[in-house]
Order: sequence, then C-alpha cells, then structure tokens
Amino acid sequence: MPKSALIIGASGDIGMTVATEMAADGWSLYLHYHQNQTRVTTLQKQLLQDYPKQDFFAIQADLTQEDAVAKLTGQLFQVDAVIYTAGATTYGLLPEVSATALDHLWQVHVKAPILLMQQLQAKLAQSPLGRVVLIGSIYGGRGSAMEVPYSTVKGAQSAFVNAYAQEVASLGITINVVAPGAVDTKMNNQFTTAERAAVAAEIPAGAFATPAQIAYWVLSLMAPAADYMTGQTLYVNGGWLK
Ligand SMILES: NC(=O)c1ccc[n+]([C@@H]2O[C@H](COP(=O)([O-])OP(=O)(O)OC[C@H]3O[C@@H](n4cnc5c(N)ncnc54)[C@H](OP(=O)(O)O)[C@@H]3O)[C@@H](O)[C@H]2O)c1
Repeated sequence: MPKSALIIGASGDIGMTVATEMAADGWSLYLHYHQNQTRVTTLQKQLLQDYPKQDFFAIQADLTQEDAVAKLTGQLFQVDAVIYTAGATTYGLLPEVSATALDHLWQVHVKAPILLMQQLQAKLAQSPLGRVVLIGSIYGGRGSAMEVPYSTVKGAQSAFVNAYAQEVASLGITINVVAPGAVDTKMNNQFTTAERAAVAAEIPAGAFATPAQIAYWVLSLMAPAADYMTGQTLYVNGGWLK
C-alpha cells in the first residue's frame, strides 16, 4: 500500500532523522521547513535518489503566521500520518518573557497542530493507518525553571492528545506524544560544554538521547500493530523521570 506522511519540522534534527527512517520504511513524505530550506531540499534530493518510486515534496511555512496551516494543507493530497516535530523554546525567568514570545510558543506548539488536525481529520480517517505523533517534551510533565512558557505549551500538547484521541478513536485515528528528555540537536547549541555536562549528569542514562533514539518510537507508532495505542505521552528520557 503506498503510504504518505506529513512531517512538520523535517528540517530539524529529530525531524530529519524521522524522515530518513520513514523513507527507508516505504513512506512518501511531505517535508515541511521554516527557515532551513537548504537542509530540506538536500534531504529531498537524497531521498528521491535512494527511493525513486516514492514521492518527496518540500513545503515551507512559518507556523507563527495565522494563515500558515491553511496554506500548507492546501498543498496536500493523501495523508496517512502526521509527525509534528516543529518547536523552539525561550529561555528566561517568566517576567522577562515578552507577550510576542508567548504568542509564538502557543502558535507553533499548540494552535498550529490543533488547526492541522481540524483540517486533516477527514483525510486521516480515510486512511487505513491514520497516525499522528507530536514531539512533546519531558518538560510538559515535570516543568522547568527558565522555560516556564515552553513547559506549559508542551504540557498542553499532551492534554490535547489525551482529549482528541477520545474523539477520533472510532475513526481509526491514533494520536500520541513522544516526549523526549534532552536530545543532542541544534536546539541545544546555545549551551556550553559544561552546561550540557551538568544536564547529562542529571540523566540516569548519563547522556543526551540521539535523534535516532527518539525516531525509533515514532516509527514504532506507525506500525500497523500499534493501532491500539492512542492518547498517550511516551516519555523517552533515559530514566530522567517526569
Ligand atoms: N532537543 C531537545 O533536547 C528536545 C527535548 C525535548 C523535546 N524537543 C522537541 O523536539 C522537537 C524537535 O526539536 P529538535 O531538537 O529537532 O530541534 P531543531 O533541530 O531546532 O528543529 C526545530 C524544528 O522546528 C521548526 N520550527 C521552529 N520554529 C518554527 C516556526 N516558527 N514555524 C515552523 N517551523 C518552525 C524548525 O524549522 P527550520 O529549521 O526550517 O527553521 C525545525 O524544523 C521540538 O518540538 C522540541 O521542542 C527537543
């Protein structure tokens, strides 16, 4: 069966790994990016070369923009799965966070995926698979000082999934959050080596996850036999408990 997925944030480190592994598993992909066009077009070229019988399309959207989701969904045909990995954080004590930054966090992590589900629900219900995975965060469960608004929107992703899974289970759609602890990606580039070592020391596994260790669980949720797993937040955190 030809199967087609939309990866929101395919230009990110987790998104690129998920895309590469899904392509190897026979998926055609819509590869979304915001600013990193070159990353996605390079990935697209490579995937077209490796898997010439599958389709790979690049789609640009800034998800802080009100009309971004409608523009994006207007470009889609078959969609059997959605992987939502777009995200960014804002560091600082709460009184320092601007209202605009709050709006952007809400828009990218919560409003855009909800609008996306509203617009793609019918397509997902038509599919024999109908899978949705949001990449959340351990901070959505345990919270983090200096990242209070980010922790809040990550928690909202899990709350959305809890509720929405109940509405669409009878349509054959599953929706889950894969919530990493710390992952070795460009999102953490601003930390010094010492700061990263301090975080790693808090993690029982003693290290950040690789993007592949997160992608593994996303791919697992795509399997036909995973069709009874829905409404859950899977913490993938090396024992760094929520
Ligand atoms: N890295 C970690 O330690 C960690 C831990 C827990 C959860 N997470 C979550 O994992 C997900 C993926 O993060 P990552 O670590 O792979 O980070 P990353 O490499 O920085 O990727 C972030 C992705 O989000 C996209 N994005 C950011 N702002 C956007 C906007 N306004 N509109 C549309 N797309 C936007 C980026 O697009 P462009 O690059 O094209 O601009 C990129 O594709 C995020 O939701 C993050 O919160 C990460």
